[in-house]
Amino acid sequence: MSAPSSPNIFDQWDTYHKVVAANFMFHREIAEALRRALAARFSGRRPAFLDLGCGDATALAPVLREQPPSRYQGVDLSETALELAARELADLPCPVTLTHGDILEALDEDDSHDAIHSSFVLHHLPTERKAEFFRRAARQLAPDGLLLLVDVVREEDESLDDYFRRYCGWLRREWTSLSAEEQDAICDHLVNNDLPEAYSTLVALARAAGLRETPGGVHYGAHRLICFARG
Ligand SMILES: C[S@@+](CC[C@H](N)C(=O)[O-])C[C@H]1O[C@@H](n2cnc3c(N)ncnc32)[C@H](O)[C@@H]1O
Repeated sequence: MSAPSSPNIFDQWDTYHKVVAANFMFHREIAEALRRALAARFSGRRPAFLDLGCGDATALAPVLREQPPSRYQGVDLSETALELAARELADLPCPVTLTHGDILEALDEDDSHDAIHSSFVLHHLPTERKAEFFRRAARQLAPDGLLLLVDVVREEDESLDDYFRRYCGWLRREWTSLSAEEQDAICDHLVNNDLPEAYSTLVALARAAGLRETPGGVHYGAHRLICFARG
């Protein structure tokens, strides 16, 4: 699997950092929901945690500090992101491994994880690769584990073009602390790289892989957390 085809704005961490810091993609509310889902599933237990497309880990780090895993493995295609993540996670009281690589390759290893988390990454893959993601995640998830999928989703029956029009229109109205150039770069990245599915498609792909949705999900506009377990 190759890196996204157009220049990756997520290698320009300044812009993405501004987006996360301003909470434009609801990272804060989603982190709250993640905290609740992890506490409900692993109360008193420290899960082995795999973070696919970890980025710089700034949004997740407070959750991990509050509920430390037994070990944290982060995977990302961006070296820059991994360097920032190493700093962000330096004080976690558990072994931290950060690997430069593709999320599907990381799921191809002979390993088992209690929690598999992937935030705002899966929409980069075409539908058949998403199906493969769910199959591999189901294989690697511990029997009582949790797959925590955060991503943007299209409305049911919304075309990709309509989705881009809607999302970019909203972004240009609401993300006003970004310059017009930064907004343009983000919209350009979305139109050239993103392939978000409808929520029902993600759930169907997961179900076909032997995963069922469990309580704990939330959504804010197009931004969604879906929790899955085996069985
Ligand atoms: C929008 S950022 C999300 C970062 C972080 N997870 C968050 O929620 O803020 C997407 C991240 O996924 C990484 N990425 C995209 N496709 C990937 C792939 N196929 N394998 C590994 N990382 C990928 C990018 O390098 C980037 O760091």
